[in-house]
Amino acid sequence: MASLPLSPEELDLKELGDRAAGRGIAIRPLTAGIGAEIRGLDLENPLSPEDWGILRAAWLRWKVVLIRDTDISHEAHIRLGRLFGELEGHPVIPHVPGHPEILSIRGVEGVKPTPETIEGFRAYNKWHTDVTFRQKPSIASLLRARLLPPVGGDTLFADTAAAWRGLPDAVKERIETLDAEHDIVRSFGGRVTEERREQLRRDFPAVRHPVVRRHPETGEKILYVNYTFTSRILDIDPSESEQLLRLLFDRIKVPEYQVRLSWTPNAIAIWDNRSTQHYAVGDYFPADRVLERVTVSGDVVSR
Ligand code: SIN
Repeated sequence: MASLPLSPEELDLKELGDRAAGRGIAIRPLTAGIGAEIRGLDLENPLSPEDWGILRAAWLRWKVVLIRDTDISHEAHIRLGRLFGELEGHPVIPHVPGHPEILSIRGVEGVKPTPETIEGFRAYNKWHTDVTFRQKPSIASLLRARLLPPVGGDTLFADTAAAWRGLPDAVKERIETLDAEHDIVRSFGGRVTEERREQLRRDFPAVRHPVVRRHPETGEKILYVNYTFTSRILDIDPSESEQLLRLLFDRIKVPEYQVRLSWTPNAIAIWDNRSTQHYAVGDYFPADRVLERVTVSGDVVSR
């Protein structure tokens, strides 16, 4: 059997669907642009090369895939993540005890949200691409539902290639060659002590990424600034930087570029962190919500 093509341009969706169906796997798109649910994959056991090829092709095409009812062990979660690449921890988000590769995503650890503490929870309910404060931001995240609130707690995903395509030509022309600064302190700085903040500044000096990147596998152009970590566009007037960023951050909020995932127990979402942003909707407090994330290391961002 020939290996599956990986680029969306080459990818024949009918062929992918047929191959998947032949292996008892169903891929159900959630919108015409972004998001698909996949059924019939056994994630607790090592994936066969054929099933891995189907998952990877669907992930590249749909940018975020959701697999429900998959009560996988920590070991299976890590093994699945390693199919995408090397895994990394996080300098601020705590990990699951005994598993440095699995982050525990839970607002502010051990603190109940109140009017006074609510801002601290806003690390996740702001639009972002994970860890763009790194020189090599991650390529994928695999997020598994562990404890869900009775209602609410969905996650929104935006297709940042569609956001690029939808920009007016004059804006495209202006931003295409620009770089922006991404800074961990802009977001996580608000969740730690002053001493820790200084340490973060030393360990993670602000980095420079193109405002528009190219996806290394699909070739798509991608709008690559996010509200959470992008502090300014470099080498232009600060007031123009502010104005452009306001416009670009707003484009991610266009509903037509988005898909909204509603979690169910033991669902796992896998997203392409190069071509998406996400936002965890904070509409479930004071109930609790715990998800576990495996994050796959990336490479240098290029245009
Ligand atoms: C994340 O930003 O990785 C977490 C998203 C979520 O909690 O839904």
